[in-house]
Amino acid sequence: MASFEYPDLEIIVLAAGKGTRMRSAQPKVLHPVLGKPMLEHVLHTAESLMPHGISVVVGHEAAQVRECIGDPANIHWVEQHQQLGTGHAVNCCQSVCDSCRDVLIICGDTPLLRAKTLSTLVEAHRQTDAVVSFLSAKLSNPYGYGRVKRDADGQVLSIVEQKDADTDEQLINEVSSGIFCIRQQELFALLARVGNDNAQGEYYLPDVVPLALQRGAMVQAVLMDDADEMTGINNRCQLAEVERLLQQRIVRDWQLQGVTIEQPDTVRIEASVHIGRDSIIHAGSQLLGATHVGEGCRIGPYAVICNAELDDECRVYAFSHIEEANVGAQANIGPFARLRPDTRLDEQVRIGNFVEIKKSVIGRGSKVNHLSYIGDTTMGRDCNIGAGSITCNYDGANKHQTRIGDRVFIGSDTKLIAPVIVDHDATIGAGSIISKNVNAGGLTLSARPEQRHNSKWRRPRKD
Ligand code: UD1
Ligand code: CA
Repeated sequence: MASFEYPDLEIIVLAAGKGTRMRSAQPKVLHPVLGKPMLEHVLHTAESLMPHGISVVVGHEAAQVRECIGDPANIHWVEQHQQLGTGHAVNCCQSVCDSCRDVLIICGDTPLLRAKTLSTLVEAHRQTDAVVSFLSAKLSNPYGYGRVKRDADGQVLSIVEQKDADTDEQLINEVSSGIFCIRQQELFALLARVGNDNAQGEYYLPDVVPLALQRGAMVQAVLMDDADEMTGINNRCQLAEVERLLQQRIVRDWQLQGVTIEQPDTVRIEASVHIGRDSIIHAGSQLLGATHVGEGCRIGPYAVICNAELDDECRVYAFSHIEEANVGAQANIGPFARLRPDTRLDEQVRIGNFVEIKKSVIGRGSKVNHLSYIGDTTMGRDCNIGAGSITCNYDGANKHQTRIGDRVFIGSDTKLIAPVIVDHDATIGAGSIISKNVNAGGLTLSARPEQRHNSKWRRPRKD
């Protein structure tokens, strides 16, 4: 990735709005985009420019926004108590912007923005005498965005918001991205003259454009190569659209890193996931949160993996669900298996169909192949747990531990009533109910009900 450094640039991120059009109890900038709050995507991009500082303007649910983002170094929180418009929001940052050369203003609701594109704007701004530079794009459907008005010679005149645009202006298809680079020395003088006489009664940042021109300053629009990058999220339809675009980007990045992705339009790979090379992600699979997949793994089809770590060469077969678990190399899981939080599988473990494992450690090479529930258990290596065996870990009030040694063989349909210990090399006969500790070696089985036979019995006939 290209690296940037702008020690004389202050970045302002606007994130104070309520996001009314989302119709949500949650502040808009905290809505996740592929598993990460949209503001975090924007902050990550801002940070990669290595600016002097980043000021984030918060207002609506400010405390919640701050708490969610935490306290990354280099970020100043600026409170905008009343959301009086984007110009007013920038004005709230005056005191933190006094020592830099330029101010770059971006919105907290445009997570597709790339650092490279921002850098193009800053470079274009600095190569000219422009006081105000902004990114624009040509859209086939410009609805909702501020339109860029130009005179007959093509010189930018102003930006007209959707709600203020007359019928002719609404036909303009060049729009403002809302991203501005402005010389610090002029910015606040311009903002001081911005009024709120418009359809929304707000102080619009884009109104600095005609004000700068009136003072004889140069203003330029820098056309973006990829208009998708400026897609703003104002409602849930745009949220879905931005996720789709970001997903395509992430899939492509992993493909170029050596990951095979089958039917890429059907998978979900969230932004913080890592996948090792030569892994294959089959159709319909979802890799969520901070999931880490090693090299040479095969996942799916239709597996869901959330905040889990998989070592190299694992196989996760169809319809398996893994959450907050740690899976050793060459483990085989599924189909139809479920690994719940705090589970750790060592290398070469085999978990088969309709098996649920919760808060347990399974030692190297052990097998739980069919229809089992293992909870609150530590199991040694090379064990074999027969079909239908379960740990009875819950007495209705408390959870209890099961400890199983190495090379233990547990016959099918065994119930291990926790707390209980089964020592190394023990064998347990099928159908046993084990409520006392089992010594090492030998065969243990609980009394089986007597088997009876009735030779006179006949099957009932159908009427
Ligand atoms: C804005 C621009 C528009 C541009 C579009 C690009 C204005 C007036 N309009 O419109 O020209 O085409 O973005 O996406 O600038 N915010 C605050 N405080 C406020 C108001 C808004 O911090 O008082 C923040 C919002 O949280 C949001 C950003 O500013 O992150 C943009 O506000 P929004 O209401 O989404 O503006 P748009 O109507 O999209
Ligand atoms: Ca917006």
